[in-house]
Amino acid sequence: MHNWNTKYPRRFDLDANDDYLKWRDEKLAAYPRNVGELVVELGNMTAITPTEKAAIMDRVERANMCVVTAGTAPLEMDSLLALGRQLGVSHTDKSTRHAQSDELTDSGILNRAIPFSTRHVNWHTDATYYGSHRTIEALFLLCRRPALEGGSNKVLDNEILYIHLRDRNPDALRVLTSKACFNYRDPATGEIHPECGGKVFWTNPDGHLCHRFSFRKTDMAWADDADIAAARGVLEAMIAAEGPHIIEGRLESGMGLVSNNVLHTREKLVDSDDPAHKRLLYRARFYDRVTPA
Ligand SMILES: [Fe+2]
Repeated sequence: MHNWNTKYPRRFDLDANDDYLKWRDEKLAAYPRNVGELVVELGNMTAITPTEKAAIMDRVERANMCVVTAGTAPLEMDSLLALGRQLGVSHTDKSTRHAQSDELTDSGILNRAIPFSTRHVNWHTDATYYGSHRTIEALFLLCRRPALEGGSNKVLDNEILYIHLRDRNPDALRVLTSKACFNYRDPATGEIHPECGGKVFWTNPDGHLCHRFSFRKTDMAWADDADIAAARGVLEAMIAAEGPHIIEGRLESGMGLVSNNVLHTREKLVDSDDPAHKRLLYRARFYDRVTPA
């Protein structure tokens, strides 16, 4: 364990360069170089051993995510929730959403919202529409059936994006960490909800970095502010450029993702016409965070 949160508590403080620079160098040196380094094979996702838990926490500290296998556990939502409980996360947002929205499949629900289709999904963190006061800090996935073709994910640790911004454009980062940058806009009515707004980057009470971003336009109401517009341009260009720290992989049947709501895409896919064989991933989102001890 690196214990960065204890060692460098001010690493996300723009006025504390010492902590930041030491943490940055250690973080970049430890960051996984490919999806293989993220994988931890579990004997049974619903009953992990201390060694398996330590291996997951190692990946989460280094990259805010880990790719796991279900082992002998059944490929169902309850297995994902059981894994979450063992990793300290249990407060889901299920009660606030459509009953089927935790099953990512080409169902066409929610007015054919893009996660429930076969289309490409651009870079985002999940649940930006809750605002920064009710952040989804952890996002878990479990694949029951992959697509016939495609449907892989690109992922990027939010902390790596933070490092790139801080090194290359600290002025933009200062705006993104200090101003209320975007609110939720109801796509149906156009009504803007400032109570579902907030910053792009901030830290939670335990000192961990939180992030909310999406390229999606329909429900994003960016503030009418020249500094925010400029910072948004810097941020979007940096994400779109997809630097060397992007990791890409496809979850096959029995594979899952544990993450602290890292930035991700979903590549477009070709699905089966047979509903019984369509791509199906279970998704769990938590208000808590997977926190290495
Ligand atoms: Fe997502």
